[in-house]
Amino acid sequence: MLQRQSILDVSIERFGDRGKSIAHLDGFTIMVTGGVPGDRLKVRIVRKKRRYAEAEIVEVLTPSPLRTEAKCAHFGVCGGCKWQHVKYESQLQAKRDSVRDAMQRIAMIPDAVVEESVGADEIYYYRNKMEYSFGSKRWLTRAEIGTDIKFEDSVYGGFHVSGNYSKVLDISQCHLQDPISYELLEAIRSHARRKGWSAWDVRTTTGYLRYLVVRTTTASDDVLVNLVTTGFDDDKISEVTSLLQEHFPRVSTFVNTSNTGVAQTAYGDANVVFGPGNIVDRIGKYEFEISPQAFFQTNTKQAGRLYEVVLGVGQFAPGDHVYDLYCGAGSISLYLSEYVERITGIEVIASAIENARANATRNGVDNCTFVQGDMLKVLNDDFVSRHGRPDVIVVDPPRSGMHPRVVERLSALRPEKLVYVSCNPRTQARDIELLGSGWTTGPSHPVDMFPHTHHVENVMLLTPDST
Ligand SMILES: C[S@@+](CC[C@H](N)C(=O)[O-])C[C@H]1O[C@@H](n2cnc3c(N)ncnc32)[C@H](O)[C@@H]1O
Repeated sequence: MLQRQSILDVSIERFGDRGKSIAHLDGFTIMVTGGVPGDRLKVRIVRKKRRYAEAEIVEVLTPSPLRTEAKCAHFGVCGGCKWQHVKYESQLQAKRDSVRDAMQRIAMIPDAVVEESVGADEIYYYRNKMEYSFGSKRWLTRAEIGTDIKFEDSVYGGFHVSGNYSKVLDISQCHLQDPISYELLEAIRSHARRKGWSAWDVRTTTGYLRYLVVRTTTASDDVLVNLVTTGFDDDKISEVTSLLQEHFPRVSTFVNTSNTGVAQTAYGDANVVFGPGNIVDRIGKYEFEISPQAFFQTNTKQAGRLYEVVLGVGQFAPGDHVYDLYCGAGSISLYLSEYVERITGIEVIASAIENARANATRNGVDNCTFVQGDMLKVLNDDFVSRHGRPDVIVVDPPRSGMHPRVVERLSALRPEKLVYVSCNPRTQARDIELLGSGWTTGPSHPVDMFPHTHHVENVMLLTPDST
């Protein structure tokens, strides 16, 4: 009888939800963290439910041929890159399979066609933004717990291990952004330790250092540093300024954000210490001005590829009026602007709409209108009569997908084409199912924006059947 702490041998069959791997034993499903299809593993059951169990690896008995060496020293603890130990071609295949699975099981398209995933050329150092957390308590790995090393309260900097927000995994490397990103973390962390500064303590809600946000760009060597602290302390900030100016000439702008609240976020009142307070990145021929808190796709190069796929799937015509729904800072709108007559974007976050308008002006684009508001409230008959009916609608909702009533409205609007861009094919499939039977679905086009994670972006064309 299977129970918690049972040790068993299993064979991994495939990847399942959220990057976990799946095995079966006597018809019972076992989800194994860190397994790879083709592995033979000794595992320990850590959680037992009625229909499935969760397990961790005790020993890899026979490694899968799909395995490769993980690059990072923190792999397996950090949780940021769950698939570093999977060959990249297999990651892409797994993402394609996960899209097919969602379309067949959730959207109920039995013969769903899924193109090959569009992979990234750079599978490391691809992010243009990293947000490191500071904390006064250090996350201990299993190996460290067994030793008598004492870790006093200090300044630790890195990431929160999944599910634990009171301690910080104090990282010694990270391979997701330009190496200057980790070097900045290390320099500020060491300086703070030397000077006896404090870091945020979740339990006492005190401590000075909270987050370090580093933004890099594909358009130049510029770097934006945003140090998030509890309140403003001029003396400490002038020490960080000297440190940056002396050792990091690439840092073109330094912002100090104060968050005095208990919410664990890097948002607050921002002070530009030096430089313009933003940096500029480029997707295709369009430039985007990015302030510390602006939304911008985190993998610039793959964002360009994603928008090329949107262009190819949408086959836009010069006379088209396009709605860009959930438009963020307007990057899809700008990218499509030269191929269509005009674009109307809707987005709930006011600052993103300001960024979208500023980006349009910066690029001399004058055929985009951006409207701020909640989709459910804004996208109504009055909006359509004021802005005009769309020929094509592009939607790019958040991971949770669209509100069912928004799906109903799209169905009633019946544009000639609906291009659905999604960062979560499961909610995309749910929305497609909800849209109903009067639509023809084109092939899925998965794009990999986040190598080493299970996340995948998927673009699909839906066309209404003629009535
Ligand atoms: C995946 S992002 C889209 C980003 C954008 N298309 C791009 O490529 O940069 C989803 C966007 O939907 C916005 N959003 C979320 N809920 C919304 C709502 N109820 N109404 C309008 N916009 C919403 C978010 O603020 C976010 O900018």
